Amino acid sequence: MHKINGPFIPFPEKFWWGTSLSAHQAEGGNNNSWTRWESRPKAIKNQDTSARAAEHWKRFEEDFDNLVWLNANAHRLSLEWSRLEPNPGEWNKGAERTYREMISALIRRKIHPIVCLFHFTLPLWVEDAGGFENTEMINAFVRFASRAQEAFGDLVQDWLTMNEPVVYALGAYGAGVTPPGIKSLPRALKTVGLLMKAHGDAYHVLKAGDPKSQVSFAHHLRVFSARRSISPTDHLMRKLADQVFNWSWYQAIQTGRIQINVPGVFKFEESNPSSFGALDYVGFNYYSRDLVSLNPFTEQKIILSSPKGASKTDMGWEIYPEGLDPLLKRLKSLGFANVPIVITENGLADASDSLRHDFIYSHLKTFLESCERHGLTPGGYLHWSLIDNFEWIDGYYPRFGLFEVDYVSQKRTARQSAHYFRHLGQIWGLVPPAQTES
Ligand code: BGC
Repeated sequence: MHKINGPFIPFPEKFWWGTSLSAHQAEGGNNNSWTRWESRPKAIKNQDTSARAAEHWKRFEEDFDNLVWLNANAHRLSLEWSRLEPNPGEWNKGAERTYREMISALIRRKIHPIVCLFHFTLPLWVEDAGGFENTEMINAFVRFASRAQEAFGDLVQDWLTMNEPVVYALGAYGAGVTPPGIKSLPRALKTVGLLMKAHGDAYHVLKAGDPKSQVSFAHHLRVFSARRSISPTDHLMRKLADQVFNWSWYQAIQTGRIQINVPGVFKFEESNPSSFGALDYVGFNYYSRDLVSLNPFTEQKIILSSPKGASKTDMGWEIYPEGLDPLLKRLKSLGFANVPIVITENGLADASDSLRHDFIYSHLKTFLESCERHGLTPGGYLHWSLIDNFEWIDGYYPRFGLFEVDYVSQKRTARQSAHYFRHLGQIWGLVPPAQTES
């Protein structure tokens, strides 16, 4: 087990140290469900679009040189399904070639690739056929997973079937702020269940292609606290949010049963044997927490907010590193003591780069210490993100990169916090930012 002793906290010997990025947010030149969504008036802040994004599709060699400079040994990317299968059953060899070059460019630099198959974007033909609400499209996704395994399995061992399925379902089918823009809580919750099936089935085809491959999904874990500590209804809503958002997926993995129950709104209970055990490591994204309260007079009933006076990012998200501890404790109690725990995304919008050093330090410290306290194996930390990129409905104003991107010249510049990150990789452990020279 990883042991901590003294102020220098060593990283475990086997530890993914690196960054995360997604295809649509970085590549530029995509044509998918999001591209279409971005063209609607007022869909995206400042009418930004992903058209050029950070031109990662042509600049990945330079970006990966920067990963080497960061002393990273791992990087998470996603494959853009619409590039690889632009029409049903039509496989694009050119896109396959570029992704093979991209992944090989990492391997050449001794950077381990972790590859995600679905990061919020769908080919238009999938979206137009009803996305994951349509069983045939779930099958199409599973076929895509199998095809990706054939095309890249000799280079890739570590997979994520999908990114933040609950966030996707709630945004796309609940709040309706992301494509396809449907506003129906029951449909959103049903989609959560359908995505579980898709994950389970994709997990098994990836494993069938290569039994040695390690497969997971990047879950978004959040802390939910009752806004008014004396309010029983706030506590009830907190429990509900926590159960549906954070834990229903892991329960499906452990029991092979999908259970999503929101009293008075929705109940989905079904046996789904393919979910059972469909996880080789725990991968989760961690950003912030929400205060939860009940407002019976609003349509969605549940109100999320953040505490007044808290330290916040440029997007107004509370910085709450201590929240990692209860989440890790819960993962332990759910029985995930024997698999590596990987933070597959953690980061902040911070254009002035004044908070990022401390953010990295405090989150890593809590992560490593809490893993030790709860008897878990820390398997890696992937910072979101390597470079600034297209932040969905918020466009380009949020700056998440260790490297700043000038969107006119596309020039990359290391932020001060990148020097800190690099230093930690060099000494292979954690020290407070003040001790670091840039
Ligand atoms: C998503 C990323 C996003 C990041 C910051 C995560 O929820 O996976 O695509 O850019 O958060 O908002």
